[in-house]
Amino acid sequence: MRPLIRTARCCLRARERAMATFSVAPAAISSSTAARPLSSLRPHRRLLLPCFLHTAPAPAGARALRTSAAAASAVEVGGVKIARKDVVKEDDPTNNVPDTIFSKIGLQLHMRDNHPLGILKNTIYDYFDKNFAGQFYKFDDLCPLVSVKQNFDDVLVPADHVSRSYNDTYYVDGQTVLRCHTSAHQAELLRDGHTHFLVTGDVYRRDSIDSTHYPVFHQMEGFRVFSPDDWSGSGMDGTAYAYAAADLKKTLEGLARHLFGAVEMRWVDTYFPFTNPSFELEIYFQDDWLEVLGCGVTEQEILKRNGRTDHVAWAFGLGLERLAMVLFDIPDIRLFWSNDKRFTSQFSEGKLGVKFKPFSKFPPCYKDMSFWINDEFTENNLCEVVRGIAGDLVEEVKLIDNFTNKKGMTSHCYRIAYRSMERSLTDEEINDLQWNVREAVKSKLKVELR
Ligand code: PHE
Repeated sequence: MRPLIRTARCCLRARERAMATFSVAPAAISSSTAARPLSSLRPHRRLLLPCFLHTAPAPAGARALRTSAAAASAVEVGGVKIARKDVVKEDDPTNNVPDTIFSKIGLQLHMRDNHPLGILKNTIYDYFDKNFAGQFYKFDDLCPLVSVKQNFDDVLVPADHVSRSYNDTYYVDGQTVLRCHTSAHQAELLRDGHTHFLVTGDVYRRDSIDSTHYPVFHQMEGFRVFSPDDWSGSGMDGTAYAYAAADLKKTLEGLARHLFGAVEMRWVDTYFPFTNPSFELEIYFQDDWLEVLGCGVTEQEILKRNGRTDHVAWAFGLGLERLAMVLFDIPDIRLFWSNDKRFTSQFSEGKLGVKFKPFSKFPPCYKDMSFWINDEFTENNLCEVVRGIAGDLVEEVKLIDNFTNKKGMTSHCYRIAYRSMERSLTDEEINDLQWNVREAVKSKLKVELR
């Protein structure tokens, strides 16, 4: 979660963050009597836009075959070659992309038809194909390296918004980021003349570690433009905005029923810089309210700047992992990245909602570490260091103690849960990991271990 208000983070800590970068705690609940629960579930085309770091397109068949994180020195997305050295720059203080993140670029999990994310994407496509035959243009291969302008300025994210910070976003350099949402493509697609589109892709956010949060996840963006002919001919009372909002809600309620069946739904008012009004759609599912997506009527300024004065539009964005975790009963977000046959073989094309059967639950191992923090310390930085050492063997990093002594020094104690999704870890292996984590935390974060 990238709240506009910093303190909202811990209050909303229990909520799934794999979607809403820009929302804040809802101002009001528009259509429900119930208080908003904080415990709601935690759970193609060729690249039109030149990739920001465009180098010569790789020849056909040049897609790197990777075997391990750092093994590939270049990958390809939508015909654009992305070299490691262009993304990971250890000596450049304006760069904060580690190898663990580079290793995810180009994997394109949403392109795999037998993967839960691909199955979900295709099911959403089916809904749009059935109800709006041929209208929505689909993009799922747009380069995740975008300019700061695309990611933030073009969608009116304020200059002081927390999501722009190095703590929250992966910067390749001062002008280039790994997109933190698929909304980064709205403006250019509009300028290219598109009026109906879906954009699916991997998005990147620096974040803390637990079973529903991973620094790379997948979103789908939907966007639809209306011209004056649409609303004037509708016979509907009210403004163009009301027309767009009504169409948005009807379309997304239909989508939610397509995915979840006949569920109870409610609309919650919220805030995004690029839409006004803005909403979240929630459904009542498995005894809890689940946030399905964020959406709203597009800010007029975005349309005006991109050649659509006198039009109105709606947009939505949804996190594929959070929905797939519920639909397929997937208990840990790391599983989406697993190549273990016992995971991958359980899913097949076109079969939404097949329940995942855990192949076995390996025990977690907990290790605590305490240190005096300094002014620069952030939990996201800690998590990055831990992940850099332990990779996907780390399941959770949790603050369990926090105090300030009389001299004003603050101590944090974190409990790290190590657990493999695929095998038992040995004591020796975990002790080694923990030792390396402690050394790395000490040297990289300059904190004083206790
Ligand atoms: N980009 C928003 C996010 O990542 C989601 C969104 C998309 C909201 C489009 C409204 C409209 O949180």
